[in-house]
Amino acid sequence: MELKGNWNFPTSIRFGAGRIRELPEVCRTLGMSRPLLVTDAALARLPLVSAAVTTCAEAGLECLVYSNVQGNPIADNVMYGVATFQAGGHDGVIAFGGGSALDVGKAIGLMVGQARPLFDFEDREDWYLRVNVSTMAPVVAVPTTAGTGSEVGRAAVITDPADHTKKIIFHPRMMPGAVVADPQLTCGLPPQVTAATGMDALSHSLEAYCSPLYHPLAEGIAVEAMRLVKEWLPAAVEEGGNLTARANMLIASSMGATAFQKGLGAMHSLSHPCGANLNTHHGLTNAVVMPYVLAWNRPAIEAKLQRLAAYLGLPGGFDAILEWLLSLRRRIGIPNTLAEIGVQPEHAARFAPQALADPSTPTNPLPMSRDDFEHLYLNCIRGQL
Ligand SMILES: [Fe+2]
Repeated sequence: MELKGNWNFPTSIRFGAGRIRELPEVCRTLGMSRPLLVTDAALARLPLVSAAVTTCAEAGLECLVYSNVQGNPIADNVMYGVATFQAGGHDGVIAFGGGSALDVGKAIGLMVGQARPLFDFEDREDWYLRVNVSTMAPVVAVPTTAGTGSEVGRAAVITDPADHTKKIIFHPRMMPGAVVADPQLTCGLPPQVTAATGMDALSHSLEAYCSPLYHPLAEGIAVEAMRLVKEWLPAAVEEGGNLTARANMLIASSMGATAFQKGLGAMHSLSHPCGANLNTHHGLTNAVVMPYVLAWNRPAIEAKLQRLAAYLGLPGGFDAILEWLLSLRRRIGIPNTLAEIGVQPEHAARFAPQALADPSTPTNPLPMSRDDFEHLYLNCIRGQL
């Protein structure tokens, strides 16, 4: 079966190897003639980006690159991008890269048309109603990692330097108008990045599946995404050029982000403060905390994981899922404890209130307190399941 398709769920997606060639046509369908390609500095130096710019230029699009984007991006990354967009007279954004570049690109598309400051559009109460929709710029998303799924999301995670917290900027129209999902672009990712981002995709599906909200559509998507991760993540890590593995991980990533409309949980609550304060890699941090959070939530999710285990072909329910996760982590080189990625016991008390306030917390299967988070951090730091 050729792993290729044109889909309109949850947005317009052109999926398949080599489809980056269609980028200019996709830009034109969204009315762009002078797109700003937003990516990170490391990616901007790779042939991947110059090839995309050349493809656009050959099709008559004046495409310039903005690459002031860091991992765990901050507000300045967005606001300098807005200034670049306006100074250059651009008419749309190509958000090109991993989660950070996609989120910054989407936030630039939002902010070019707004008079208020960025964090006035945080995902709280009805703040999204403050957005002037008519002046937002169109966005095409081109993912180059398989994990974040931000290409099909309606939000961007940006760190507020004022208080070192990650804030979610949200508007329904932040969903990119179109996605070019070309698994070939992910073939050059090193094994460690493939592993960490792939585990982020898994964490989205697993947390969405375990969220107590009622959303059968999201649950259906989540279980199939987890099957794809189980079947293909080891091959994607071990044989980077395996295009079938890369394609299946790329769609599993989009599916994970589609599913997490149902909510996330304590994996992301614990991970965000580590990223905001210590700049740990988001997917890697989720991968480290995953089994500890699962064990913590066990009383609330045991029956659900029984069903999941049956679908994944893992005899034994909750314990079988936990065992599979632990062996998957070992196989793809994920560290066992938060201590191994620089989180120390003294961070637990400081990060716990931030985890409690995280927007992922209300949909954790078990209600969480500040003390619970401190305890759970210590479990993850000391390796106590
Ligand atoms: Fe995530």
